[in-house]
Amino acid sequence: MASKETIILGIETSCDDTSAAILKNYSVLSNVTATQMIHEKYGGVVPELASRSHQENIVQVVEAAISKAKITLKDIDAVAFTQGPGLLGSLLVGTSFAKSFALARKIPLIAVHHMKAHILAHFIDDAGDKKPEFPFLCLTVSGGHTQIVKIKSAFEMEIIGKTIDDAAGEAFDKTAKMLGLSYPGGPLIDKFAKMGNPNAFSFSKPKIDGLDFSFSGLKTSILYFLKAELKKNTLFIDENLADLCASIQKTIIEILIEKLKSASKQTGIRQIAISGGVSANSGLRMALKNLKKDGFETFIPKFEYCTDNAAMIAVTGKFLFEHNLFVDQSVSAKARLNW
Ligand code: KG4
Ligand code: ZN
Repeated sequence: MASKETIILGIETSCDDTSAAILKNYSVLSNVTATQMIHEKYGGVVPELASRSHQENIVQVVEAAISKAKITLKDIDAVAFTQGPGLLGSLLVGTSFAKSFALARKIPLIAVHHMKAHILAHFIDDAGDKKPEFPFLCLTVSGGHTQIVKIKSAFEMEIIGKTIDDAAGEAFDKTAKMLGLSYPGGPLIDKFAKMGNPNAFSFSKPKIDGLDFSFSGLKTSILYFLKAELKKNTLFIDENLADLCASIQKTIIEILIEKLKSASKQTGIRQIAISGGVSANSGLRMALKNLKKDGFETFIPKFEYCTDNAAMIAVTGKFLFEHNLFVDQSVSAKARLNW
């Protein structure tokens, strides 16, 4: 039986993007994001400033999402918001807004786990050519997380591998900083890598048992390598920027893909998806596509559903709505939220 048409407002404020989206069932009517540029000059997200910017942006972003969707306030059936994990001061803005909105409109309130939402972004109608079927594996790679997740259903997700230190996004951002690139460095490494030779430099990869990841050793080895080269030639980075970016990106991607392949072998699951900010990386997207040659079925979400966005919060809200999984006004934001 077809489910009733539901209109959900999604709110995402876990880090430095203020985002609101309107979904009709699984279809995006609007997805509006205000990216905070203020952090660039500090070389990373400043929590206090992020929280303040969310407060300044939230009302306008929600209004823009509603007007773009061509709906009115009374059409909204429920509000879904990111409860965590993330920066507490940032999460509090979206949480408080969503609670007030639900109270004023007398509609259900739905609390969403940010990392699960990155995965369920695959079920947005226009996320990709086809949807994964359960069970599938998802590599979730963002600024704060790197996980391999076995997804048995929208509600049963098991983390089977994770980073023991830095996240893949941090590996991109921290090495970019060493190269003198601004924050966030991931997209810049991606950009320069396109012009460079990925085999110009080689960096040793970590040897970690099982399906876990480690990126801090790579970061240190790149740091020492750069220090030694800069001693010989102070212009080393400028003269080799594209090759450095291409080689660093290739190493990070190889680490990710090797573990994904092991996870597939271990679980016998051949459907592989990626999600999270780092899944916007063109090299990783290409590497995943190339896995098709080895008989894997791969799923790569549309670019705008990779980095933080409220459409993924609203689609997760839709799954929870279907099962009446609502929260009441006592709900609070959680910087660390259990899986
Ligand atoms: O999921 P996300 O938007 O926010 C978090 O939940 O953390 O991920 C942000 C991370 C940052 O580390 C950023 O540098 C990285 O995703 N990122 C990329 C690219 N676009 C975003 N990393 C590599 N290549 C990209 N094109
Ligand atoms: Zn994220």
